[in-house]
Amino acid sequence: MIRAGSVITIEARAKINLTLEILGKRPDGYHELRSIVMPVNLTDTVSLTSTYAQTAMTITVSPGVDLTKIGSVDKNLAMRAARLMQEHYRINAGARIHIHKRIPIGGGLGGGSADAAGVIRGLDALWEMRRPREELMALGAELGSDVPALVHGGAVLMEGRGERVRGLFDDDAPPASCEGFWLVIANPGIMCATPDVFKKWRGGLTASPSLLHNMTSSIRTSDVSAAAEALHNGLQTAVYDDYPAVAQTAAQLEKAGCLGVLLSGSGASVFGLARNEAHGQEISRKLGSGLWHVLVQTCPVV
Ligand code: C5P
Repeated sequence: MIRAGSVITIEARAKINLTLEILGKRPDGYHELRSIVMPVNLTDTVSLTSTYAQTAMTITVSPGVDLTKIGSVDKNLAMRAARLMQEHYRINAGARIHIHKRIPIGGGLGGGSADAAGVIRGLDALWEMRRPREELMALGAELGSDVPALVHGGAVLMEGRGERVRGLFDDDAPPASCEGFWLVIANPGIMCATPDVFKKWRGGLTASPSLLHNMTSSIRTSDVSAAAEALHNGLQTAVYDDYPAVAQTAAQLEKAGCLGVLLSGSGASVFGLARNEAHGQEISRKLGSGLWHVLVQTCPVV
């Protein structure tokens, strides 16, 4: 029995890809990926209220998030996630969804996917279903390649199209020293169209075979210098060539003293690793107010 008026609020975290290897094109048109994904503490707030009426959604934005980049509410991934949950579990109730967005839109930070993942996890709790996380992740894969990783919610290795996800330390718990990293995310205020970026991919630089091992072990030991050495994104060259504003943003982060700079996902956001919080604040000061940026931390590894 679902009670109308119950409310749940989820902080839907953005993600960064510390590594993103593109292994080849698949017959279905997608690309085979291997990526280490970590959530960061830049969030959209997703509030869900159960109703007996049809599902409806409203969106508000923080300064710096461009509301005009949000398409129609009906096609929004969060709205589609709610409809999928209703249909899949034959739920005879609706939900009022409100999303307050802080994650830049179309920025390679998984904002839309995070909102959809938040709706899936939130409705699972609100409608008191308590389905296994793996089942919710599989449902999320129907919506988009980044959704399963964000339903998982921890540091993960993502493979296949994005649907094969496992915790980075599933077989081997992370030690207490695993504190995560400070980083500055910057966004030039443009959007990179993900399908176009993947279409432009022509092989390019292949990652070293030890990439996964090196990045995993630098996360395990919180060794940010080693992580900076291991950063890799197979889409970066294509994006920097086609979107000079993104390449310029990366150059600004480098000039401001980041240890290592990388394109996040398919762009347009770029992030730079900092030694610690104080170093991150110094980078932030150097960037000044002309460029949208935010100092964040990767979330504890779960
Ligand atoms: O899965 P999602 O809808 O997020 O993907 C957006 C687009 O990115 C796809 O339509 C496809 O063009 C590209 N993509 C890809 N290979 C992946 C993930 C995404 O080619 N593994």
